[in-house]
Amino acid sequence: MSTHNVWTHKGTFLLAAVGSAVGLGNLWRFPYLTGENGGGAFILVYALTIFAVGIPILIAETMLGRTSRRSPIMGMRHLTKTHGTSRAWESIGWLGAASAFLILSFYSVIAGWAIHYTGQMFSGALVGADSETIGAGFDALLASPWLLTGYHTIFIIASALIVGMGIHKGIESGLRIIMPALFAILLLVLFYSIANGDIGAAATFLFTFNIADLSLEGWLQAMGQSFFTLSLGMGAIMAYGAYMSSEASLTRTAVAVAFVDTAVAMVAGLAIFALVFGAGLETGQGPGLMFVTLPLAFAEMPFGALVGGVFFILVLGAAISSSISLIEPVAAFLVERFDLTRPKAVGAVTLGAWLMGLLTVVSFNVWAEGTLFHALFGRSAFDFIELLTNIFMPLGGLLIALFAGWALTQSEVMKELRTSEGWFKTWRFLVRFVAPAAVSFVFLRTIPQVDGYLIPTLGAIVIVGAFAAGRTFLVEGSSR
Ligand code: PHE
Repeated sequence: MSTHNVWTHKGTFLLAAVGSAVGLGNLWRFPYLTGENGGGAFILVYALTIFAVGIPILIAETMLGRTSRRSPIMGMRHLTKTHGTSRAWESIGWLGAASAFLILSFYSVIAGWAIHYTGQMFSGALVGADSETIGAGFDALLASPWLLTGYHTIFIIASALIVGMGIHKGIESGLRIIMPALFAILLLVLFYSIANGDIGAAATFLFTFNIADLSLEGWLQAMGQSFFTLSLGMGAIMAYGAYMSSEASLTRTAVAVAFVDTAVAMVAGLAIFALVFGAGLETGQGPGLMFVTLPLAFAEMPFGALVGGVFFILVLGAAISSSISLIEPVAAFLVERFDLTRPKAVGAVTLGAWLMGLLTVVSFNVWAEGTLFHALFGRSAFDFIELLTNIFMPLGGLLIALFAGWALTQSEVMKELRTSEGWFKTWRFLVRFVAPAAVSFVFLRTIPQVDGYLIPTLGAIVIVGAFAAGRTFLVEGSSR
């Protein structure tokens, strides 16, 4: 059954995709990963994957959504039938649903930290505080499972309410308010950091490349991040693509999404590191970077409490416009497959992700060390979940690229792309060969190096699985 739901305007998909893409990935994760991985080298790998792999896959994923006009799982089921390919390709949908679940679970916990800091900033509690006080405040937040769970609950319920109201009344109207405000606030914060921070040091840090600075796991993180930041390879874009007007241009939209998303990450990185260097702080702080160094930088600066509060509102707005796109693909599946009402479907998805989120909550306190996860995988549950998504998203993207590149016929693709022969050939070359090769290269190079026993096994299973699926397809496909 097709939902026949289409966004109100031709340009709404762009708005929704940018809303999904711009999020904690840009404001929180990108700066801290860059800081941990030595700056420029990380950005180089990240930017290369965005342009050579990200944009072609973004087009492919939107295309699969728009041609099938169904939620990712049902959409892939439909496409495998109509194209006489192996059902194994449906794994694109299932893998996506799994990633969405995993991401939503920790995303909501981290977004919860921003709720905490919005309050802290506006109340002026941190004005004039020194680094010890602020560091201790952050540690105290992380040490409290109750506080973390409370914020996590608030955030996930807010996201659920928006998605529960439907794609027009909820998602579209929400985004129309949130997105313009975001860009205004981002510019405000940038100007503030130029005036009060050390923008020169920030630029040097971000744009000086020394590839030796990058560890092997850094490569995987950079690639994972480029998928994460574009919301790629897990069905969010496919779900939104299913509602995209047939009139809108796939290529132009994808380039615009990638451009805006990268620009936001760069601006956020510049602003954050300008404040960090201006206040003489450390760059390699890990996940705490935004939450410790920024409040500290704001604590000492004119109007810091106000601008800081506004900044954390920005973070929350960006986070919620992304979390709704994590709920949508799975919720839409439940509606299509089991005829659930939308509110029920959304409730089921968020309840599941909320429960899973408790694993992230306890990773910062009661289960911070010495758990089963540490014994098996050498890391906390949160780190393990993040690692899984770093693998699942590129893997999903790889499968999407292969399916769109090899299973869709030229006339179908041309109908969607409506482009010149030249760009069609380039795009098809990118999704057929370049994207799969790049993803496999990073996988083969990094996954065996990741410490913890089960990771190599997992990597092997995944790669063998991908080849098996590909072979079945090639065999069945060639008989067409
Ligand atoms: N792109 C979002 C961000 O950068 C995260 C996200 C990933 C959202 C996958 C949806 C799907 O924060």
